[in-house]
Amino acid sequence: MPEKALLCFGDQQIELPVLVGAEGEKSVDISRLRDATGLTTYDPSLSNTAVCKSAITFIDGDEGILRYRGIPIEQFTDRPNFIEVAWLLIFGRLPKKDELDRFSQRLTLNELLHEGMKHQFQHIPADAPPMALLSATLSNLVCYHPQFLALGDDESFEEMAARLISKVRTIAAFSYRRSLGLPFNYPNPNLRYCANFLHMMFSIPYQQYSITREIEDALNLIFILHADHEQNCSTSTARVVGSSRANLFASCASAVCALWGPLHGGANVEVVEMLDRIHHGGMSPEDCIKAAKDKANPFKLFGFGHRIYKNYDPRAKILKVACDRVLSQMKVKDPLLDIARKLEELALADPYFVERKLYPNVDFYSGIILRSLGIPTNMFTVCFAIGRLPGWIAQWKEQHDDPTSKILRPRQVYIGNTIQDYVPIEKR
Ligand code: CMC
Repeated sequence: MPEKALLCFGDQQIELPVLVGAEGEKSVDISRLRDATGLTTYDPSLSNTAVCKSAITFIDGDEGILRYRGIPIEQFTDRPNFIEVAWLLIFGRLPKKDELDRFSQRLTLNELLHEGMKHQFQHIPADAPPMALLSATLSNLVCYHPQFLALGDDESFEEMAARLISKVRTIAAFSYRRSLGLPFNYPNPNLRYCANFLHMMFSIPYQQYSITREIEDALNLIFILHADHEQNCSTSTARVVGSSRANLFASCASAVCALWGPLHGGANVEVVEMLDRIHHGGMSPEDCIKAAKDKANPFKLFGFGHRIYKNYDPRAKILKVACDRVLSQMKVKDPLLDIARKLEELALADPYFVERKLYPNVDFYSGIILRSLGIPTNMFTVCFAIGRLPGWIAQWKEQHDDPTSKILRPRQVYIGNTIQDYVPIEKR
């Protein structure tokens, strides 16, 4: 017998169905509530609202569990291949060898930008924020590939996904080169995904950037750990935009904008700036913890806390270990790592953070690894976006393929003026 929830309102008793997810989590289905009672529900941050059914990513925030298509995130860390993870997320199963080869080939074929698009970069101020450029250029892609506005079968979707996943790293690298006034490096079809990105970022004319296996693996790991995270702010943005049947390019461009904010993907920049400030004597770790606890102070301990995880973020756990490995492989001694460890130790022993179950999240250690690879701070959130793109594409496709999905259009509780008369300007 399926479970039901009972809602009593006035003299009405309404039975509401209870949905049960694959891992046993329960959700009261209120989709008929307004029709039956005239009531809406109020949940301003959507903390208690499941907005869709999804088969892509599972998170148990109390236990610190994250799985992509059922596979625990920890199982991806030894055999890093971001492209394999991207295909898994988008198409729902691990690719066979020929499927992965075909997808890789599609990525290679799509790695160039239209020359017209390349010229756009020249006219943008050198100090333009790379996230603004990324969003605008992703949206512009559709001007150069209008045929992809119309979606076809899975194969043409694969081509469209490859186009986006491939070009995003070219766009990202070009925006970095533009910011330094350096010539653009065309992608090298002989290099794999991460190595090609690093080449476009760091090679100089007549001198190929030398990429070790360790550097490539570290970037692969960062991208994999960011690849999807169910209904987070940027993914929800992609779904909201996609729900109006806007195209994939526009939906992903909007997701980039949502990711930019310091409470979401922009936190990785804030973390390093915070650690840097401590390093340069601007404040002590103890001052930092004190400021984060002070409700009169808008300052937050960036890289700490999460809407879903009330336990250690499994991605942060992996990155914390990876930090030691990567820095020692790169022979880098970064004082910011010691400061981060000290902050974590202070926070995890402080009742404020303990009672609120605030633990390090993915952004706490990722910036330290990116720094060790030579990635500048203003490109951190761009790297997050490159990693998250397969997730946005997978979620957009899932929504698009669902025949029951409708335009996302929430309700509100109106608290403005009741009916008023218009007053002509001379009488105001
Ligand atoms: N520093 C200080 N206090 C915090 C922090 C923090 N980093 N995070 C949460 N709190 C407090 C918050 O003030 C609230 O206190 P009180 O109960 O006294 O009002 C309590 O903890 C619960 O927090 P919340 O604001 O209700 O939590 P939320 O789910 O709305 O916000 C969050 C989640 C990630 C936006 C928030 O924890 C935060 O701002 N963290 C810092 C920014 C950050 O690291 N963001 C990256 C998130 S993970 C990767 C990603 O999604 O991009």
